[in-house]
Amino acid sequence: MGINKSKEKIDASGLPEHIAIIMDGNGRWAQKRGLPRSAGHRAGAQTIRKITEFSNEIGIKVLTVYAFSTENWKRPEGEVNFLMDLLLEFLKDAERQLAGKNIVIKVIGDIKLLSEEIQQQIHKTETLTQNNSGLLLNIAINYGGRDEIINAVKRIVSDVQYSGLNIEEVDEYLMSRYMYTKGLKDPDLIIRPSGELRLSNFLLWQSAYSELWFSNINWPDFTTENLLEAIRDYQQRHRRYGGI
Ligand code: FPP
Repeated sequence: MGINKSKEKIDASGLPEHIAIIMDGNGRWAQKRGLPRSAGHRAGAQTIRKITEFSNEIGIKVLTVYAFSTENWKRPEGEVNFLMDLLLEFLKDAERQLAGKNIVIKVIGDIKLLSEEIQQQIHKTETLTQNNSGLLLNIAINYGGRDEIINAVKRIVSDVQYSGLNIEEVDEYLMSRYMYTKGLKDPDLIIRPSGELRLSNFLLWQSAYSELWFSNINWPDFTTENLLEAIRDYQQRHRRYGGI
């Protein structure tokens, strides 16, 4: 069956289950318009809302978005503070808007370094939406792929030392269970707009066999039609996972 959301249909049976997005190009979007970078981030947050709701409507199960990396602390203090305020606002808003649309919201990353207020809001939004049955929106905040792997290794070593975990049991399935994405299918499709061609420390463990899709559009300009374009492209690919 096809999904009639666009001029050209997409095949509903071959949808990627998990899509991950590196939301890049907010700064350039603003610069082009002579606006402060903060205006680009604000517009980018609106794009997340739109893409999340649309993904839920068309039957995507999981959407993981890169909102703040472990490296983003290097940005000027004013920009970091603005992004944190925007995240807080987004989570509060999500309680009203996205929860009503049956969306589950979770945050992945090392949240201990975030303010007490944001941590409490994360807990509140996650609790409020946990029994919804629609799309899961994973927001990566203070997330780094290497940091996630180091964290997993530390916990595995500790479980070997103190909790009777046998070293022979350490394999990729066990590693996956120590990741923030525990229990989730690895991303089928990773999208990076804005013209950069790299993963930038995003989902390093989980992206082993993900299909990658790049475009020159800055994130605030990314439309539902662009998402369908990426999905259609994905549906043409042959995933072999190392086989033939
Ligand atoms: C990259 O654009 C974007 C970010 C570092 C932050 C992404 C954040 C948002 C889309 C909004 C906040 C998120 C939520 C969940 C409310 P850039 O600033 O690196 O752009 P540039 O490369 O053009 O400078």
